Amino acid sequence: MSDRLILAPLHGITNRVFREAYFKRFAGFDEAMAPFILSSRSCGAKGAHFKELLPGYSERAPLVPQLLSNDAQGFLATVRSLAELGYREVNWNLGCPYPMVTGKGRGSGLLPHPHTVTAFLDAVCADSPLPLSVKLRLGLRDPDEILALMPLLEPYPLTRIIIHPRVASQLYTGSVDLEGFAAAIRGTKHRLVYNGDITSVDTFMHLRRRFPGIDEWMIGRGALADPFLPGRLKGLPDDGRALETLEAFLDDVYEGYSDTLSGPRHVLDKLKELWGYLAPSYPEHQRLVKDIQGAKSAEAYRRAVNAFFRQ
Ligand SMILES: Cc1cc2nc3c(=O)[nH]c(=O)nc-3n(C[C@H](O)[C@H](O)[C@H](O)COP(=O)(O)O)c2cc1C
Repeated sequence: MSDRLILAPLHGITNRVFREAYFKRFAGFDEAMAPFILSSRSCGAKGAHFKELLPGYSERAPLVPQLLSNDAQGFLATVRSLAELGYREVNWNLGCPYPMVTGKGRGSGLLPHPHTVTAFLDAVCADSPLPLSVKLRLGLRDPDEILALMPLLEPYPLTRIIIHPRVASQLYTGSVDLEGFAAAIRGTKHRLVYNGDITSVDTFMHLRRRFPGIDEWMIGRGALADPFLPGRLKGLPDDGRALETLEAFLDDVYEGYSDTLSGPRHVLDKLKELWGYLAPSYPEHQRLVKDIQGAKSAEAYRRAVNAFFRQ
């Protein structure tokens, strides 16, 4: 399959510890997008701001950083720093659905204001040292918002437009709106990436048949629930060692967080969050997963994980 698969950005989850462990153990993704950082007019490339994106740390797959911003000058200052760090593309987040973000006119809060979006793009595209892509939802509240925006995006030199076909008020609930996606992409000359609810080979095949012009797909929660999914979508052979691989991956994540977070409590929280995404893939082992999620100490966590993998 020649289609490209991109690991979606999930703030607090697909950060560098996760990516390092994931790409060491699982195949299928061609690229990853980093969770958003906020733009800032004053931070240089070595600032704490870039902790997650600094070099000297070997990313195992090409990484595209993402910025959440409504301030073109801050955005440009941050993009200059990212260019100094060697990145080749930057993504502008127009999808974040949370009211504390949208209420400040950021993320999908900008979608009902297409002329604010184009004013930002006018300023950024004129001066950006890096090519730009955007990640959108269909709208803040109304899936027709994107219909007003898409034609206005045509003149800009965007590398691609990633669309998650939900409105922000849905957050991540309800179903994806494939009609809305079809309407949004009609007529655009931009390169497009589909993102949303790719959770199985069947859903993927359905989407490929429905949107034959799309050959880049971004996957988030589907890969958290089943880290082997991208490999299966690519038709890669199964080595018959799924459980060993999953266990080794989780061990790597545990170790990575133990090295970077302060205190076992934070490490456990991160691991439990990952198990929350994995849990639906193991309906027959709900009790064992519950034990893992209920673990109050590193020892209890280890015992529960051992019980899961030994059964
Ligand atoms: C916990 C969480 C954090 C997220 N953080 C980001 C983010 O930093 N940037 C972004 O563009 N999207 C973010 N998203 C949205 C995902 O990138 C993706 O668009 C969404 O999960 C739909 O894709 P999926 O169904 O394959 O997961 C986040 C989603 C979740 C659930």
